[in-house]
Amino acid sequence: SRSRAAADLTRLTRWVDDFPEPGVQFADVTPVFADASAFRDIVDALASIGEGADLVAGIDARGFLLGAGVALELGAGVLAVRKAGKLPPPVLGREYSLEYGTARLEIPADGLDLSGRKVLVIDDVLATGGTLGAAAELLTDAGAEVLGVAVVLEIEALGGRGRLTKYPLTSLLRV
Ligand code: PRP
Ligand code: MG
Repeated sequence: SRSRAAADLTRLTRWVDDFPEPGVQFADVTPVFADASAFRDIVDALASIGEGADLVAGIDARGFLLGAGVALELGAGVLAVRKAGKLPPPVLGREYSLEYGTARLEIPADGLDLSGRKVLVIDDVLATGGTLGAAAELLTDAGAEVLGVAVVLEIEALGGRGRLTKYPLTSLLRV
């Protein structure tokens, strides 16, 4: 359930100051996913909001872990949305800005027909919203219908929710 997942996240998330840059506080959910019952709770909670999705897009890299679990639960396909430079050409890409610097997400530009696919986009953490926003826009540009975006942890103070108003947003825990 949502409340069990939230309790797992509160208990097991590792908070690290000044990573990857001074002044940034990094929420590392690695220990949450490594806990069998916490991982189950989180995948169940995300799957329960993904009804109707036929594809789950997981964002590099912790989103891959969640995306695969949720896709299996939903009977959907899974798509890895990669950081730049990992996929062979041709690719479709989208730049975005982070709390620290800029980055780029990519998906294959051929061999993958996303038109009409109903997609749930998943990542671990929502901070400024740059990453999830870029992924959702990229998938929309590729012809997909983004049904929603979801994260396990939302850092409210960074205002990401305000940048994602085009897509229904779910977070399992807000801090
Ligand atoms: C972290 C996190 C999210 C993103 C959220 O990823 O995993 O993907 O930041 O930040 P935003 O809402 O401000 O875009 P990061 O880019 O640090 O890299 P990683 O996932 O490869 O660790
Ligand atoms: Mg990330």
